[in-house]
Amino acid sequence: MIVISLYCFLLLLLHRILIIESIVLQYETKCKSSQFIDLENLIGSLHTYAPNSTKLIVRDMGLTNGQQNLLKRYENIQIVSSNYAQSSNIQQIDVDHEFILINNTLYSRNNQGKYPFIDLIRKQFSFALVIPFIESQLNNLIHLLNLTEIYLPCQKYFHSTDLIFYHNEESSSALEKYITKLNYQNKCFKNIYYFAANLSADEDMYPVGSAYMWKKLFSNESTNTISLRARGYTHFFLMEPDTRPIRSYWLDAIIEKITNPYDQQSYISTNWWMIGSIYRGTIPLGREFLHINGNALYHLSLDFIRFIENVSNEIPNVLGKTNGYDLDLFLYMFKHVDIAKNVWHKFQFTDLIQNCWHSGCNDTDTDFIHMNPNTYLVHGNKILPKAVSSLKKFFYFILLGLCAMFCLRFRHYCRRVFINAILLKIF
Ligand SMILES: *[C@@H]1O[C@H](CO)[C@@H](O)[C@H](O)[C@H]1NC(C)=O
Ligand SMILES: *[C@@H]1O[C@H](CO)[C@@H](O)[C@H](O)[C@H]1NC(C)=O
Ligand SMILES: *[C@@H]1O[C@H](CO)[C@@H](O)[C@H](O)[C@H]1NC(C)=O
Ligand SMILES: *[C@@H]1O[C@H](CO)[C@@H](O)[C@H](O)[C@H]1NC(C)=O
Ligand SMILES: *[C@@H]1O[C@H](CO)[C@@H](O)[C@H](O)[C@H]1NC(C)=O
Ligand SMILES: *[C@@H]1O[C@H](CO)[C@@H](O)[C@H](O)[C@H]1NC(C)=O
Ligand SMILES: *[C@@H]1O[C@H](CO)[C@@H](O)[C@H](O)[C@H]1NC(C)=O
Repeated sequence: MIVISLYCFLLLLLHRILIIESIVLQYETKCKSSQFIDLENLIGSLHTYAPNSTKLIVRDMGLTNGQQNLLKRYENIQIVSSNYAQSSNIQQIDVDHEFILINNTLYSRNNQGKYPFIDLIRKQFSFALVIPFIESQLNNLIHLLNLTEIYLPCQKYFHSTDLIFYHNEESSSALEKYITKLNYQNKCFKNIYYFAANLSADEDMYPVGSAYMWKKLFSNESTNTISLRARGYTHFFLMEPDTRPIRSYWLDAIIEKITNPYDQQSYISTNWWMIGSIYRGTIPLGREFLHINGNALYHLSLDFIRFIENVSNEIPNVLGKTNGYDLDLFLYMFKHVDIAKNVWHKFQFTDLIQNCWHSGCNDTDTDFIHMNPNTYLVHGNKILPKAVSSLKKFFYFILLGLCAMFCLRFRHYCRRVFINAILLKIF
């Protein structure tokens, strides 16, 4: 009885929409910049439930450039200006509504402030390979760029792929001038850009600096010049300079993760947020450190951005609070299992890239390359030759002794510090 009355109530809330077969359906909605999340949810529900060719006309009531750029990549969307003459036979739908299909009949209803359809939007991808770096990583960066001439990124040219060099300093800094002067060119990238995070003195510290730089890439499509969504990008791969290709066509392999099994012009939906590598090292880290390393492929979904905002509200980017931006995502999910159960599937492991940290994997070893046919990139574990004087050796010896004494006394604390130090690549 209760079920039936609830059901009737639900039907009253729904607006039935007439589907006339054989005619291309069209709807029109109005959207302000602050309603963009509603619009994305509406478009996702349109792509999920309406017949394939159903078109949505979006009346632009003050969208940002970034929002307009994104809409251009979404399937069956037409943007019109606010004073565009309205055609009388087009059905209007409020931007805070969503489509739903019941018994093969299309209905619309209010979204109730929930946005389950955002990751179901079908769009043409626009991809950026982002290389973040600071001055001390210049050698690694140049080594990486040299490697891209041995291991070519792509076999076929992509029209929707850019390369972004992204540093921590101001845009006119010597570092930016240096990297610009290298004049790196590669036919696999349509455009090459140089981004400056311009971190303040407080932000520009290890390891919080990399967390700030990472977060800026995800910022909402507004005035921020580093926001990737503001440039119309839909996906990006973060490639720190200690990441190295180990075979050719690694960019093709990354793009295939996005488009699979479609071609690059297709409209595709991306129901994941992050695809990357697990820690494979020999030192056991324990379950609470299970995570995907930040050198990964990301989907610039508004849903993911809201999730990241949740995470950083709880674990701020402050020295002593953050465990590294990648680890924080997973610590948050282990703590909030009820939120996490809805989003775990959006985090996926891959062997496209391997985390070599403390794993002993050797990227110049042909055996390793042959035994890992799906692995195109590795990161970490680069053996750098170090010259240590005997005086320094003596001091290290004393320091080691003090640490050992400390660890014997405070075993639990010591283990945590040790593991963090491994993850922050201090060792
Ligand atoms: C920013 O994100 C919110 C959702 O968190 C969204 O509603 C809004 O439209 C976005 N864009 C701007 C320019 O604020
Ligand atoms: C509609 O889209 C679905 C999923 O993309 C596809 O399988 C189907 O063939 C399409 N139908 C038409 C008529 O294009
Ligand atoms: C949906 O279809 C089934 C089977 O035809 C029917 O029993 C049910 O009442 C229908 N529901 C609605 C809401 O029309
Ligand atoms: C990169 O290649 C250039 C030119 O081939 C060479 O001069 C330079 O030493 C290389 N740098 C590194 C770090 O391998
Ligand atoms: C960089 O940030 C500083 C404040 O930290 C600001 O004064 C300066 O104008 C910024 N530079 C650019 C190019 O935006
Ligand atoms: C953010 O957190 C709130 C509660 O703290 C939760 O209801 C919501 O689902 C979370 N959003 C995302 C996108 O994780
Ligand atoms: C990696 O493999 C190469 C080739 O087999 C070998 O010459 C080199 O010593 C190895 N490096 C390490 C650190 O094991």
